[in-house]
Amino acid sequence: MTTLGTPLSPNATRVMLLGSGELGKEVLIALQRLGVETIAVDRYDHAPGQQVAHQAHTIAMSDPAALEALIRAERPALVVPEIEAIATPVLQALEAEGLVRVVPTARAARLTMDREGIRRLAAETLGLPTSPYRFCDSLAELQAAIDGGIGYPCILKPVMSSSGKGQSRIDGPEDVAEAWDYAMAGGRVSHGRVIVEGFIDFDYEITQLTVRALGADGQVETHFCDPIGHVQVSGDYVESWQPHPMSAAALAESRRIAKAVTDDLGVTLDGRPGGLGLFGVELFVKGDQVWFSEVSPRPHDTGMVTMATQWQNEFELHARAILGLPVDTTLKSPGASAVIYGGVEAAGIVFDGVDEALRLPGTDIRLFGKPESFVKRRMGVALARADDVEAARRTAKQAAARVRPRQA
Ligand SMILES: Nc1ncnc2c1ncn2[C@@H]1O[C@H](COP(=O)(O)OP(=O)(O)O)[C@@H](O)[C@H]1O
Ligand SMILES: [Mg+2]
Repeated sequence: MTTLGTPLSPNATRVMLLGSGELGKEVLIALQRLGVETIAVDRYDHAPGQQVAHQAHTIAMSDPAALEALIRAERPALVVPEIEAIATPVLQALEAEGLVRVVPTARAARLTMDREGIRRLAAETLGLPTSPYRFCDSLAELQAAIDGGIGYPCILKPVMSSSGKGQSRIDGPEDVAEAWDYAMAGGRVSHGRVIVEGFIDFDYEITQLTVRALGADGQVETHFCDPIGHVQVSGDYVESWQPHPMSAAALAESRRIAKAVTDDLGVTLDGRPGGLGLFGVELFVKGDQVWFSEVSPRPHDTGMVTMATQWQNEFELHARAILGLPVDTTLKSPGASAVIYGGVEAAGIVFDGVDEALRLPGTDIRLFGKPESFVKRRMGVALARADDVEAARRTAKQAAARVRPRQA
């Protein structure tokens, strides 16, 4: 049985978000609706989620001492990582001590914080199909890996990076040194390790949102959302839609892979039912063949489309699952999302044309409220529902284009 408290009282159910960007903001709103007391943590002030939480803290979450001190001071029942760059050994220690529960588990946060942990788990431990890959620590090792079997074209990524940062495609020997330099500049740590992956010539890629939630008998059940199709430009998502049409065989294989990965990431140290929450499993598909790419043990950016398409969007699903509540992953309508970029480098920007965007039938807009805009920073998202995905994609892109950010 789940018991929920009253916020700002001694009986409050308290949840801390580590990372409070646009995805965290929606999780926080979903928690607020259930009367949960929320604590939003980010590395800069006035982050989107900090604007909708009961309490806000600004710390370097990759600093183990700062992170541990904050968790010990606040003592939330649940710690919910929203980003990868967190001092995850601290989470493991505090979870082992029984002080907090980490969502889905501290081990999952640790394994997915760099590309090596999760890739080795998926390919080597679980035997799931992935692109061929090698990890390298120098330009010479990279060249040897490519010559030794990875071949061209291939993709180079820092092991610690997200949203396509430091990632590039290598088409031939002349690109290798430049790709290496780009990866070194784009990783989260300067002395970076990289992964080089054989290029998968997929027909399309999907995000398989997968939810581990408690059933009536107290056992963990796995639920799947309809597949989300998306377009990535330079490794960053620009457009997504749901449902993406798939063959029955490809869908079954996608769910087999998603179940295997999330089952493993859900294992708790003490063997109790755990590892609850929503996961975004990224898969490449060609015909009936499916490759595992990566997984977020939390809501996924391409899943923002579910704010238009599902009865319970991915943020509500995550909030409900982590609290031990039942979930419903049913689709409400086909729909699409399109990212609204800042386009300018300025603080405190304004957005013209939101009214014009919302005059398009079936649309909705989220503006994240980020204090500072960069040309390629995601500042908002346009959502559209329609009778079919193609119409929704057109409308979402049109709506996004009608919103015009500018310096005030
Ligand atoms: N091995 C690959 N073959 C083909 N495309 C790839 C490969 N790896 C990545 N990509 C493309 O780059 C995108 C971003 O890569 P991903 O590993 O998901 O990085 P990130 O963690 O930054 O999201 C993918 O969604 C896909 O479009
Ligand atoms: Mg990705």
